[in-house]
Amino acid sequence: MPIGTAPGARSLYERRDGQRVTVHDIQQAKQQGERFVMLTAYDTLVAGIFDRVGVPLLLVGDTSGEVVFGYPNTVPVTMDHLIPLVQAVVRGTSHALVVGDLPFGAYQESAEAALAAGVRHLKEGGAQAVKLEGGRRVVPQVEAMVAAGIPVMGHLGLTPQSVNALGGYRVQGRGRAGDELLTDAQALQDAGCFAIVLEAIPAELAHRVTEALEVPTIGIGAGPHCDAQVLVWQDMAGLTPGRLPRYVKRYADLGGILETAVRTFAEEVRTGVFPTDQHSYH
Ligand code: KIV
Repeated sequence: MPIGTAPGARSLYERRDGQRVTVHDIQQAKQQGERFVMLTAYDTLVAGIFDRVGVPLLLVGDTSGEVVFGYPNTVPVTMDHLIPLVQAVVRGTSHALVVGDLPFGAYQESAEAALAAGVRHLKEGGAQAVKLEGGRRVVPQVEAMVAAGIPVMGHLGLTPQSVNALGGYRVQGRGRAGDELLTDAQALQDAGCFAIVLEAIPAELAHRVTEALEVPTIGIGAGPHCDAQVLVWQDMAGLTPGRLPRYVKRYADLGGILETAVRTFAEEVRTGVFPTDQHSYH
């Protein structure tokens, strides 16, 4: 039984074949004190691995702009980039609740624009929920989607779609800005968000927000007191090259494993070791 799960309560990690985790299950996890994870996912095979392990929430994030499409940040990502990725993740999973990210430009303009994008994620993509960035300024968008039956996840703190306005990827919510962030979190909860991502904020502030809210907080660079934690999967599995943010923990070196495999393949072809008769048709 995972740490924090009340005796007799069903864990979010328990497999229920053919039945996906629901937003109700996510709420219950907070009430029961069960800590859980969300991972990003962008394709069928990797999403399938996470699903078999029982990861309850998979986010088809606009981080795909960087880790899938090779852009310098998330700003260029569109709904047309994300819909095929959401479809692939949904096809490869049967347990996880799949969240489709609303990219920059898809919802800022109006509640109508947000609703149209949210409907696309559920209807075309097959997602069960959507995520958007921002606090009080996106309340009309959240309300419109929730009223239409679209579960919405919020995202506060370092909101990468605003990197140009924030002047870089910096820790947010220090000093008086912390009170503003708490007000934003309460506004998102009141508007109907079922969970809120807190990115790159002081651990003490994340603790305050987590205690104040009834809906779960999902931290990334927000310390140990959040109800859940999320990481970009390529970061935690060691595929992303170069220096990573302080909050990332590498749980594997998939980049190294893949490099060795490719080197060995090339060497075996060069020296005639592969293919053998075993790999040939007659
Ligand atoms: O797009 C994304 O992957 C995200 C996570 C980093 C939370 O927003």
